[in-house]
Amino acid sequence: MNQAAIKATYKELQNHKSRLANVHMRDMFASDAKRFRHFSANCGDLLLDYSKNRIDKDTMKSLFALARAAGVEERRDAMWAGEAINITEGRSVMHMALRYQGDEPVMVDGRNVMVDVRAVLEKIRNFTDQVREGNLRSSTGASFTDIVNIGIGGSDLGPAMVTKALSPYMRAGLRAHFVSNVDGADLVDTLKDLDPSSTLFVVASKTFTTDETMTNAISARAWLMAALGEEAVGDHFTAVSTNIAGCKAFGIDEARIFGFWDWVGGRYSVWSAIGLPVALAIGFENFSMFLKGAAVMDRHFCTVPLEKNLPAILALVGIWHRNIWHYTTQAILPYDQRLSRFPAYLQQLDMESNGKSVTLDGQQVTTATGPVVWGEPGTNGQHAFYQLIHQGTDIIPCDFLLAATAQENLPPHHIKLAANCFAQTEALMLGKTIDQVKTELAASGMEEAAINKLAPHKVFAGNRPSNTLIYRKLDPATLGQLIALYEHKIFVQGTIWGINSFDQWGVELGKQLAKVLLPKVEGATNGSVHDSSTQGLLAYFHHLQAR
Ligand code: F6P
Repeated sequence: MNQAAIKATYKELQNHKSRLANVHMRDMFASDAKRFRHFSANCGDLLLDYSKNRIDKDTMKSLFALARAAGVEERRDAMWAGEAINITEGRSVMHMALRYQGDEPVMVDGRNVMVDVRAVLEKIRNFTDQVREGNLRSSTGASFTDIVNIGIGGSDLGPAMVTKALSPYMRAGLRAHFVSNVDGADLVDTLKDLDPSSTLFVVASKTFTTDETMTNAISARAWLMAALGEEAVGDHFTAVSTNIAGCKAFGIDEARIFGFWDWVGGRYSVWSAIGLPVALAIGFENFSMFLKGAAVMDRHFCTVPLEKNLPAILALVGIWHRNIWHYTTQAILPYDQRLSRFPAYLQQLDMESNGKSVTLDGQQVTTATGPVVWGEPGTNGQHAFYQLIHQGTDIIPCDFLLAATAQENLPPHHIKLAANCFAQTEALMLGKTIDQVKTELAASGMEEAAINKLAPHKVFAGNRPSNTLIYRKLDPATLGQLIALYEHKIFVQGTIWGINSFDQWGVELGKQLAKVLLPKVEGATNGSVHDSSTQGLLAYFHHLQAR
């Protein structure tokens, strides 16, 4: 990391901002017929169009220089070489090994981890084939019809999002459910229509200590035992964890425990055995394609120069928005209903990774770090929050995602979906001037006084930034590619900010305090002392409970 060069490039970027402050993107497009070609890049079929951002060649040049000054390429190589770049936990960061397709050894602490990775994949293949073919049956001899994954955070969001995204690849008669919240409503609502004799539970927890997951797993086990007896537990429960002893203590047979390793971060774990419910739902071949798609993006990220490197470009445009223009949020807008959980998935991936305010050496950061990530699928969002994106006082960079081909043959749905997606990016960029509004209103026959009153409300400033990602079809390989794209984007940004994107100490305090408060919520009158707000809330909670 070359601090002097970083400082210099930030300064350059500030100058670019001043230079572009009064430039409108509609003029940038008007003056450069090749703007799309200049500001788009591919990885296979996946296209990233980043031309609808307030950037030019010089801006991008400084951004690439920033990435180089921050040592993005060196840190990427160090990650892949197995260095313990997650310094606060003393761990390597090797999720790329989980989907690596090559024959070279991949070393962590002197061990070729590909041996372990492939052994677990083989175990997943055998298990999923047996369940899906009906060879592995429940304690009553029934085939499994329902898989219930119990996990939270990275042990839930990945498999839940991917299973939904790839639902066209699911076998009829096999359903996947996801229980995560400690709110009993989640488990009760999931189990209420299920038959214990054909239900298979996957308890997914890297640590196998997470309170929500263990509480749900214990209640699920009680539900099963009430129907089929204690001896049925072994046939109906599997576990995915790095804590094999914890899984065994829960009563899960070793043959049904799928391991992974501390060098896989929770939010980067869908490629590991945490993907078991995905493999069960869509079959091992499709799961393999999902891994292969991610590997294509890994190769692209590790070999293609930054100027054509999708994750680097996406990250740098994000840095431009976050650090130079001070935009605080990032919208993820899939025009793909089956990606409806993708924004939630990226929330954890991005916000848990880059929601940090100290640098790797423990100093307070001097620039803003991760933005608030949020979103919903289009076109639904258009009828909800797009008003603010178009005319609100905050500028919200948006990522639009669209498949060229739908999974279903249902004209005219897909062309309408696509037209809306393109229209939104165009509208955000172009806007509509007061003169255009007045001309339109006059053409509709409105009086001048009325036009003058109404026109300001109908103006769109435009010049609002967006990226568009287009892919052929939402198939397993494409989804793998998309997720890996965002993983690497987040890595690049974290490197530039000089933070550790792979720990999550910020989730600990709440967990600790919940443990302390539990007796108080149960009604203890002595013990821990709390502030007047917390005490008041506890008292009112008990008051309402007593009524
Ligand atoms: O509380 C945050 C977190 O640690 C996430 O990072 C993780 O994905 C989630 O909890 C679940 O953890 P586990 O898989 O160990 O149950």
